[in-house]
Amino acid sequence: MPATIIVGTQWGDEGKGKIIDLLAREATWTVRYQGGANAGHTVKRADESFSLHLLPSGAVRQNVTCGLAWGMVIDPEQLMKEVMALESRGISIRSRLKISTRASLVLPHHVARDGMEESRRPDAAIGTTGRGIGPAYEDRVGRRSLLMAALLDPNGEERLKQAQDAGIRRITQGTGGDRAMEWYVTPKDWQRWAEFLSPLLCDVSRELDAALRDGEHVLLEGAQGTHLDVYAGTYPFVTSSSTIAGSACTGVGLGPSRINRVVGVVKAYTTRVGNGPFPTEELEEAGEWLRASGKEFGTTTGRPRRCGWLDIPLLRASCLWSGVSELAVTKLDVLSGRPGIPVAVAYRVNGEEDTFPPHSPDSLQNVEPVYEEWPGWEPKEGPFKKIEDLPKGMREYLQRLATAVGVPITTVSIGPERAASIRCRIEP
Ligand code: GDP
Ligand code: IMO
Ligand code: MG
Repeated sequence: MPATIIVGTQWGDEGKGKIIDLLAREATWTVRYQGGANAGHTVKRADESFSLHLLPSGAVRQNVTCGLAWGMVIDPEQLMKEVMALESRGISIRSRLKISTRASLVLPHHVARDGMEESRRPDAAIGTTGRGIGPAYEDRVGRRSLLMAALLDPNGEERLKQAQDAGIRRITQGTGGDRAMEWYVTPKDWQRWAEFLSPLLCDVSRELDAALRDGEHVLLEGAQGTHLDVYAGTYPFVTSSSTIAGSACTGVGLGPSRINRVVGVVKAYTTRVGNGPFPTEELEEAGEWLRASGKEFGTTTGRPRRCGWLDIPLLRASCLWSGVSELAVTKLDVLSGRPGIPVAVAYRVNGEEDTFPPHSPDSLQNVEPVYEEWPGWEPKEGPFKKIEDLPKGMREYLQRLATAVGVPITTVSIGPERAASIRCRIEP
């Protein structure tokens, strides 16, 4: 059976965790293909809530195998903490966790460098999550990374020392040399990592190939969102990996012919954490209303998220770049009670209208959104089992969205819980 890719279509936090957990009901594997602990994915099961940063969102379902593929950057301390946190809540994970030997390690000096680089650009800070993601990917393309495979190597400690000496030398050329000793991993910690993680290391690509040949259902789980992609996003205000669907193939080691479905997750409005352009951002009453109504505070850093209206030109670009074959729309319930809902359907740039974002990321700073006001709806008590149960205004919002983007909607989410979801097919 071919694999399914799930991608965020905005600036992250679209509700991917919830949608992946939902789709994982029919899957045997969920695999993260890029990013690291900068992600924060929330899964709700009955009245329990789980925040996942490195583990795939299928982890909460006991029968699903979880993969961390070679496109990822993995902080071992964070990973072990997450595994133990799930196990302490009665969810065994180690027996079904598979980690690629080729994934890169995030070490304490990467985290230190992330913070130092941010503080050196006070006027142009990216607003990173501070998880060492940028420096870890820099080392990967600079051919200096320590891979997970080093944990299997009898000379691993020596390789760790060399990697740390070089990495720490690079940062102490600036400031902070007096703290350098704090950034070294001790031999005791290295041995603890090796003991815990070595049994989980394997060839994830080969295992996925076997699973697909056996007709299993594999989900490849994107973190962040399309407009944080290091190529496609609002550069330089992006993360350091490619987040779009193509990255799933390079990130796990499967060819594009093994994929037949790309689910784009879109929140019914837009949020962003960190700096960078955001054409439909609302800085006053509406923004505060969206933040309060949608509880828009970061899962990883707790930062308040910037909020604004749905941006169709950005969504069109996301669907093009990832070949999105269907959309899952989340957080529609948050908009309930708003009499009319502004939606950006085009941009005005230098007096001209365009339905697609400008090709230069810098120009996104200067676009003026062209809004339509879509009808709102009054809050309505569930349960909502099928589309016909939803308020009329909500159904119209969904229909207009599918038509504007030209992609069918197949999942609608109207609450954080699993039950607050409807499988459907709204054609453009
Ligand atoms: P992710 O990073 O894309 O997985 O999203 P996050 O987990 O960071 O943020 C999404 C937040 O919205 C989480 O707190 C979810 O529990 C919550 N959520 C997901 N879907 C819905 C929904 O349809 N309605 C509401 N009200 N909350 C939702
Ligand atoms: P999920 O998977 C929202 C943002 C940061 C910052 C930029 C670079 O939960 O959707 P980084 O630490 O990656 O170098 O930060 O990217 N960012 C996210 N924003 N959701 C995320 O992940 C994010 N991961 C990174 O806020 O602007
Ligand atoms: Mg998140």
